[in-house]
Amino acid sequence: MLETDSVLRVVDVSKSFGGVKAMRNVELELAAGERISVIGTNGAGKSTLFNAIAGVFPVTSGRIELFGKDVTRLSAASRAKLGLARTFQTSRLFEQLTAAQNVFIALGGSEFTGGLLRLARRNPERWARVDRLLDRVGLAGRDEQVVADLSHGEQRQLELAMALALQPKLLMLDEPAAGFSPAERAQLVRLLRELPQEISLLLIEHDMDIALAVASRVIVMHDGAKILEGTPDEIRTSERVREIYLGGSIHDAA
Ligand SMILES: Nc1ncnc2c1ncn2[C@@H]1O[C@H](COP(=O)(O)OP(=O)(O)O)[C@@H](O)[C@H]1O
Ligand SMILES: [Mg+2]
Repeated sequence: MLETDSVLRVVDVSKSFGGVKAMRNVELELAAGERISVIGTNGAGKSTLFNAIAGVFPVTSGRIELFGKDVTRLSAASRAKLGLARTFQTSRLFEQLTAAQNVFIALGGSEFTGGLLRLARRNPERWARVDRLLDRVGLAGRDEQVVADLSHGEQRQLELAMALALQPKLLMLDEPAAGFSPAERAQLVRLLRELPQEISLLLIEHDMDIALAVASRVIVMHDGAKILEGTPDEIRTSERVREIYLGGSIHDAA
């Protein structure tokens, strides 16, 4: 495999918070264009893995490589510059601005002067990109709505548009369907499946249906460790996964 084919490599990574071992000896590899889901019940260590890759905090041990480069000691901002985009579980949108203005800002069309955020209005090319991004995430026609008037689902779609505005090589999403209606879930799955092939995807998702629908490979975490890795079919039929997910059918989740 060419060095450039490797998008992400997590090597023997552990993370402790005080006495809590949130993640132990996790290994993960993602090649260009690949889509991986990480599943697991609450407290499994999914968000810890996600944040370790994004560079939100330093890991306790192990190594993280992005695009063939050791980024273990790099800041989140430096990792973003390499081509990693992520959305946040808590919203980071400008509530009083419109959907279009938020995406415009994500595209770099603003500056702070005199304590005020100013949008560079005369940039038709950039506004056209805003339209295309809103269209892609299913928000065409909602561009003039202020964020506060968007539904929860629409706000998450908007966050996705803002992440895509960065033209990432690797997109990471942490439970993007949290709080979604069934219709919004179906739309999210469609949207993720339609992402350009060159964007690699690491999806953290508690919802089994979504996780298995968009990934070619699934990683199961439990108690801070990776306990299983396989194709969606292997995961769907795994006894171990069934046990972990409340001992019930994993096909039930709507
Ligand atoms: N900042 C933190 N400080 C202390 N403990 C944490 C912190 N973040 C996560 N943990 C603990 O690490 C474990 C894994 O959490 P997390 O990665 O958030 O799981 P998941 O995202 O799979 O629900 C949990 O026991 C959680 O309480
Ligand atoms: Mg989490």
